[in-house]
Amino acid sequence: MSKINAAITGVHGYVPDYILTNAELETMVETSDEWITTRTGIKERRILKGEEQGVSVMGIEAVKGLLEKTNTNPEDIELVIFATVTPDMPFPDTANLVAAATGMKNAFCYDISAACSGFLYALTTGAKFIESGSHKKVIVIGGDKMSSIIDYSDRTTCVIFGDGAGAVLLEATEDGNGVIDSLHRSDGSGAQYLHQKAGGSRYPATADTVAAGEHFAFQNGRPVFKAAVSGMSDVVTKVMKRNELVTDDIKWLVPHQANKRIIETVSRMADFPLERVMVNIHKFGNTTAGTLPLCLWDYEDQLKKGDNVILTAFGGGFTWGAIYLKWAY
Ligand code: UT7
Repeated sequence: MSKINAAITGVHGYVPDYILTNAELETMVETSDEWITTRTGIKERRILKGEEQGVSVMGIEAVKGLLEKTNTNPEDIELVIFATVTPDMPFPDTANLVAAATGMKNAFCYDISAACSGFLYALTTGAKFIESGSHKKVIVIGGDKMSSIIDYSDRTTCVIFGDGAGAVLLEATEDGNGVIDSLHRSDGSGAQYLHQKAGGSRYPATADTVAAGEHFAFQNGRPVFKAAVSGMSDVVTKVMKRNELVTDDIKWLVPHQANKRIIETVSRMADFPLERVMVNIHKFGNTTAGTLPLCLWDYEDQLKKGDNVILTAFGGGFTWGAIYLKWAY
């Protein structure tokens, strides 16, 4: 019998209606469209507005669209993994809330917290359940409501991040398509450069932590930039090498959308032409765990069965990795 692979058999995304433009940010902090565009490539990002609107709202919409377009009965889904660092609440996991709202009654559900690499980690984890033969249908969601942890008076972070979520359906295939290989890394010594200090068990929420702004995302951009470039280039190159792939064999490189300059540098280091690199950072900014499924959703029409695709990401933790898959439809 040939090997069981986990194939992505559908993708769907959701971004909120509200568009936060560079022009509006110019009225909020000391910045300019010129700085944001040249330093990051971002023109606008989406923001989920309204009371009691958690990341689940976007996950639910992405999953509803996914179930509908793949003609899938929600009761056939056996596992739901939601990658996010902005869950609706510390517990229960947001995956449970999404499953309850979309009728996925027979699934067991949990979240994965790996910041910008969350979707990659979740995709690899979900794929293993399929490859083992124990599960037939798995939904992997990546999404974040970054606006809930951003200080809109801090120009170093507020221009970068946005809200959005995407979801994929994984199903078993024996036709050679699907997830072929993955390589993941973590390095906790990078925590000092990118973190949300308070709100966990070390610094529970108090009036003081709130007053000190310690519930907002903190980033020291330059060391993260350097580590992101070298981390992603390294895993992409290694995955290509161990699968005996050269650049011409890869149809699409799908990089985490944190900074257009990082994307361009990684592409250059991996010797990858930019025409085959998925980029949508200009319209959504950095949606953390949302960027990769939102890219696949955006480029879905251009993907063809059998296309070799490499996904890569780098983020808080530090966490990073690459997945090599063959597009299945
Ligand atoms: O997704 C998770 C992983 N995250 C990443 O991969 C992000 C990695 N880092 C980056 O993308 C970049 O470091 C940033 C976009 C965050 C910052 O760009 P940079 O080119 O590294 O800028 P910088 O932090 O070195 O700052 C350069 C200058 C500073 O001014 P001085 O000290 O040179 O006078 C900043 O104060 O730009 C200033 N600056 C801004 N100016 C206008 C910082 N933010 C802004 C801003 N508008 N929004």
